[in-house]
Amino acid sequence: MKNFIKINKKISSFNEKIEIDGDKSLSIRWALLASQAEGKSRAYKLLKSEDVISTLNCLKKLGVKINLQNDFCEIHGKGVNGYTYKKNLSLNAGNSGTLGRLLLGLLIHSKEKIKVIGDRSLSKRDFSRVTLPLEKFGAKFHYKKKNKLPLTVLASQSIKGINYLENRGSAQCKSSIMLAALNASGTTSIKAKKSRNHSELLFKYLKIPIKIKKTKKYDFIDIKKTKKIKAFNYRIPGDISSSAFFIVLTILTNNSKLLIKDVNVNPSRTGVIKILKKMGAKILFKNQRNYKGEKISDILIQSSNNLKAINFPPELNSSAIDEFLIIFLVAARAKGISYFKHISELNQKESPRLNWGSKILNMMGVKTKLTKDSIKIYGQPDLKINKSIIIKSYLKDHRIFMMSTIAALTCGGQWKIYDKDSINTSFPSFLKIVNNLKNYSL
Ligand code: S3P
Repeated sequence: MKNFIKINKKISSFNEKIEIDGDKSLSIRWALLASQAEGKSRAYKLLKSEDVISTLNCLKKLGVKINLQNDFCEIHGKGVNGYTYKKNLSLNAGNSGTLGRLLLGLLIHSKEKIKVIGDRSLSKRDFSRVTLPLEKFGAKFHYKKKNKLPLTVLASQSIKGINYLENRGSAQCKSSIMLAALNASGTTSIKAKKSRNHSELLFKYLKIPIKIKKTKKYDFIDIKKTKKIKAFNYRIPGDISSSAFFIVLTILTNNSKLLIKDVNVNPSRTGVIKILKKMGAKILFKNQRNYKGEKISDILIQSSNNLKAINFPPELNSSAIDEFLIIFLVAARAKGISYFKHISELNQKESPRLNWGSKILNMMGVKTKLTKDSIKIYGQPDLKINKSIIIKSYLKDHRIFMMSTIAALTCGGQWKIYDKDSINTSFPSFLKIVNNLKNYSL
C-alpha cells in the first residue's frame, strides 16, 4: 500500500467547524492512572491512536482488563502497585516516548524482570533521563546499548521517596517520577522547571496526597505514598498540539475561518497560541470552561495577512515543545527574521526535528541559520513555490508529515510526502479532516 500523499495545489478558502482527536497526553495519563485505581474507570473520546493503543496493550500484559468500545473505554484498575507480573514479560511502547518513560515509573516495583522495547524511532531516544532518577528510588535498569531501548527493569521491593531536580522542562521526566512516587515510602520531592502539568491536575483531582508550590521558573512538588486511588471517569478534550496544524492552515489560507470545538487550552500547553497571536494571527478562545482542573475552549481562527517575525521567548519553549515545526512554517511566511533559541530538545523527539524543520524550509526556498540549539528563519510573506519537493524522513515522525502537508496546502509546489501512516501515532483523523474542508481531495 502506498504510504505517501501527493499535493499539487493549494487549498482554497474555507469556513468550517471541526472537532479534533482527543489529547494524547491526557489519554495516556488517564489510562495509566485508571490502571492504578480501584475498580472500573471510563473514558469518553479517548484518542484511538497507536500511542494510546500501545498503552492499553502494555496494561493488558500487566493483567489489566480493558474494554475498548467505539464511544468509550473502560479500564478495570488493579489498585496502586497491583499489576500482575508474569515471567519473561516484554512491553512494547511502540513510537511513544510518553508511554515508555511514564510506564517505567510504575514498573519499578515489579517482582519479575521486565523488558521494555520500542520502534526504531523510540529506540534512538534517550532513556537515561528517566532511569537515572528512577534508580535513586532503588530500582535498577539494564541496557544493551547505552541509554537506549530495549532495556530491562530490575525492580526492587523497597522503593523509597527521593529528591529530584527536573531541569529540562520535561513533563515526561517529571510525570515518570510522580508515578513512581505513588508507591514509594515517605515523600518524594520534585523541583521541576515549568512543563505541562496534566499529571499534577489529575493527582489533585484524584485526591492523591500532593502539594505544589509555584515560583516563576520552578514548581516544587511533594507527593506522599498513596494507598488508594478511586476509579474515575474522564471526557478527553481535543488536543491543542493536533489543533495547531489546522490553526496554521487557517492562518495561512486567504479568506478562511475555522472553529475548533472543545480543545484543551491548559496554559502549560498554549505557547503556540501566545506566539501566533504575537506574530499577528487572529485567534480567539470562545466558550471557555473548566473541567476537572483542565481548561477547555472552542478556538476561532481567521486568516491573517501581515504576519510579523518573532524573537521566541525561551520561557515558552516547554509550552510549545510539540508545535515548533508548525510555528517555523508561520515564521517562514512572516515579515522579518524570526529567532528561536535553546531548543536542542527538539532534536530529542521522534526524529531530529530542529534539523528537519530547517531542512524542509530550505527545500521550500526559505533561508535558515541553524545551530545545535537555535534557528533563525528568514521569512518570505510572498513565498510561492514552483518546484517539486519530496519529504522522506528516515524515522517515523507524525509531526514532520503533518507540517509538510500544511506547507504544501498553503505555499504551493508539487509535493510528495512519505510516511503517511505516521499520523496514526497521534492524529488518525488528520487527513480526513483536511479532505472534509471544502471537499479537498488528497
Ligand atoms: C509529553 C511531553 C513532551 C512532549 C510529548 C508529550 C507528555 O515531552 O514532547 O509529545 O505527555 O508528557 P517532554 O516532556 O519530554 O519534552
